[in-house]
This record gives sequence, C-alpha cells and structure tokens, in this order.
Amino acid sequence: MSTLDVRADVFTAPVLPPTSPPVFDFDVAIVGLGYVGLPTALAYRANGSRVLALDASSRRLRTIAARGADLLDSDRARLDAALREPASFRLTGDASELSRAAAIVVCVPTPVDHQQVPDLAPLRAACATVVAAARPGQVIMLTSTTYVGCTHDLVEQPLRERGFEIGGDVFVTFSAERIDPGNAGFAQEEVPRVVGGATPQCQEEGVRLLSRYAARVHRVSSLATAEMTKLLENTFRAVNIALANEFADICGALDVPVTEVIEAASTKPYGFMAFYPGPGVGGHCIPCDPHYLLWQLKALHVDAGVITEAMTRIAARPRRVVDRIRDLLGRAGKGTLGTRILIVGVTYKPDVADLRESPALEIIDALIDAGAEVQYVDTHAPHIHLDSGRERDSLADPAAFHPDVVLVHTRHHDCDLSWLDGDAVVLDGTYRSSDIAGRVLL
Ligand SMILES: NC(=O)c1ccc[n+]([C@@H]2O[C@H](COP(=O)([O-])OP(=O)(O)OC[C@H]3O[C@@H](n4cnc5c(N)ncnc54)[C@H](O)[C@@H]3O)[C@@H](O)[C@H]2O)c1
Repeated sequence: MSTLDVRADVFTAPVLPPTSPPVFDFDVAIVGLGYVGLPTALAYRANGSRVLALDASSRRLRTIAARGADLLDSDRARLDAALREPASFRLTGDASELSRAAAIVVCVPTPVDHQQVPDLAPLRAACATVVAAARPGQVIMLTSTTYVGCTHDLVEQPLRERGFEIGGDVFVTFSAERIDPGNAGFAQEEVPRVVGGATPQCQEEGVRLLSRYAARVHRVSSLATAEMTKLLENTFRAVNIALANEFADICGALDVPVTEVIEAASTKPYGFMAFYPGPGVGGHCIPCDPHYLLWQLKALHVDAGVITEAMTRIAARPRRVVDRIRDLLGRAGKGTLGTRILIVGVTYKPDVADLRESPALEIIDALIDAGAEVQYVDTHAPHIHLDSGRERDSLADPAAFHPDVVLVHTRHHDCDLSWLDGDAVVLDGTYRSSDIAGRVLL
C-alpha cells in the first residue's frame, strides 16, 4: 500500500508474548501531524531519532510531502532534510505501522463543539488505535491537551484490559505540548516539558523519551498532575486575557491609553505579567482548553465562577468589536448598511495561517449580516470559509476597495499598511498599532 493511503481506523494486533525482545524499526511514532505533531516529529528527527509520522488525513500527508505545511522557516528546513531521508522519516497513514515504533506520541486535536462541549472523538480514535497496536516495550505518551484522568481512561485502563502490565511491559505517560506556533522566539526544544507517568517507571520512560530533544523536563507525581498543569497554564492565559480586555474598556471609558499602562506595569519585576487586549481569542488552545476543565467540573458540581465568567467574556469579545464599529459609524451619522469595511489580518494571531476559532470570522459574518460590504486582506490566508457558508478571497489591492472603516485585527510581521490614505476610520483591534496616525482603539 502507498505510504499516503489512510488506514488509521482501529485494528487489532495480537499482544506478543512478554518474552519477545522489543525490536523496533522506529524510535518514535508521532500520531497527528498538525501544528504540534509535525514540528515534534521534525524535532525528534533533527535529534537523530528514526521517526514514523502518522496522520489519519491523506490530504494532510500530501500537504506535508509537498512541503506545503504552515511551519517556521527553521522547521521548513528540517522538513526538507527529513523528506530526503525516507528510511528515518516515514510519512504514513497506515496505523498498523505503529507496532514498529519503540515510543508513540499522540498529538491529535482536542476541540470543542458549537456548544463548547469537548469533542473527544479524535483523541478517543487515536488512543484506541494506539492501544490496539501496542506491543511490549513501548512507551506511550499523550501530549494533546485534555481533561484530568483522560490518559488513564483512554490509554492506561484499556491497555490493562488487553493484559499489559503498566510500568512493566508498556509505559504510559502524559506531557502536554507547549509549542507556540509561529513564534520563533521560543524554540520547541528550549521550552521545559512537564511529565507525569502512570507509575514511577512510566515517568522515567517519559523523561527519557522527551530528553531526546527537550532541554529540560520537569517531573510531576502523576498523570493527573501533568494533565492539570496544562489546564492551569491555558486557563491562566484565558482569565488574564479577559482581564486585559476589561481593562482596555475601562481605560477607554477613563481616556487612559491602555497599552502604555500595561507597559508601565510590566516594569515591575515581580507579581505582574503583561497580557494585552484584543478583538478576541482564537486558535486551538485558549478558546477550547478551559472548557475541558469546566465540562469536567460541571459533572462534579464544582463551581468555577471566575473561569466561567472569563470564558463567557472572551466568547463575547468579537460581538463587542461589531458593536464598536456600529458605534463609530453611528457617531458619524452612518449605519452599517452598504458601508465598506476592510479587515486587516484574519488569522487568530500574527505569522500563522491558522484560522481556527479566529474572531475575525465571526466579526465578518456579523458585519455582513448587518448589511456591510466586508472584505479582508491577509498574506497568510488567501481564502476563507465563514460559518455562514460565505467565502472570501484576500484582496490583492486593498486601497482599491476604498474602505470606510478598517479594522486592524491581526498584524503579521510583513503587514503593509502604507496604502492607508487617511480617509477611512481605522479601528486598532491590536491596541498596538501606534504607527497608524489617527487610529482609534477598540
Ligand atoms: N496549536 C497549538 O498552538 C497548540 C499548542 C500546544 C498544544 N496544543 C494541543 O495539541 C493538540 C494538537 O493540536 P494541533 O493544533 O496540532 O492540531 P491540528 O488540528 O493542527 O493537527 C492534528 C492532526 O491530527 C490528525 N488526526 C486527527 N485524528 C487522528 C487520528 N485518529 N490518527 C492520526 N491522526 C489524526 C489530523 O488529521 C491533524 O493533521 C491539541 O490537543 C492542542 O490543544 C496545540
């Protein structure tokens, strides 16, 4: 079968007798080659490991093979090198090959649905595949962000049910990925990793696996502690972003420049960490991860009022942007009907092509619903599909659109705004475009 064929559904491989010596063709298999998994596979390969790179999507595998994945330049160079060595970097859609790897690292998505309920289907499917393919001697590590107890439920317990001794003949660990896609300032290898194991032996195997490329590994006492650590990290970000947004609105009401306030507060060397306001949050982490915790807490009838409120406020932020545009137009005696509105940057953050949960998509749909004529410009996203089913292409010549309102939503490092001619109202959703004369803050 071709290496690009897909066969990632669950299959059942026999458990080998415990006496079989573990002989593996690959040092590590990566399951899920997205924003996390592909750089992880490349980091292992760059550090000398033989890597089996598995994805359930044949389209994704073709994109990677064609060097079309959204990567940092440094990872693109690694991918070029890896693809030249197919014996030590094998792209595959065939899940039965997992039994050829000494370690398996799971990096599949953990999104939420439209009701913000965790969608565990991809993780369940991936774990079922891994469990079915498990062989004595393997180390299995989950790195997807998930609820507390998930590694036990989806990996440890099913392996026990298959007759494995956990910590004896297979090793189960959790270490959430902390990569920041598009950010070249923090190399993946340099960001410390937190690892927990089902047993002390599992933890040690997890440390050994991560130490192949990670400079620092921090041990925690259990799988649950490692899972909760990631939930705290991203809940902390969510709550602080909600607070930064609120401060922006407060500063606006009191006519104080919020960015200057945050930068001034940042001079305090302890007890303060800068978070900046914006038009909302996107990507696969902040809008999703805290919901894994809230979903679990709801079932336990545990109150988490601060987190719940922060997530509600965050979800409402794009609507706040739309209201602000209406307000600005209203002050000029205009409405949204027929108004030309240009969105600058639609990805959820600078220098990535990731549109998942991007607030821009909701903002554009809401403005079109309100009768505005809306276009966008973004060098990283040539085409967008909106939830409403509408589609748009990035404008080649934004000046020719003659917008009445420009919303600066995301500024990539190469964002060119030299065409702005002063006729449009420019709403700075980033709060940090101080180079634009006459802009108004969100
Ligand atoms: N994107 C980030 O910034 C980031 C950062 C840190 C942690 N995380 C976490 O890492 C995990 C992965 O996120 P991502 O952004 O890389 O997701 P992604 O959507 O970019 O990639 C996931 C990949 O997994 C593949 N996949 C899905 N089900 C599969 C299966 N059963 N078998 C094999 N492949 C399968 C998909 O085809 C896709 O290519 C999530 O839990 C996320 O919360 C993401």
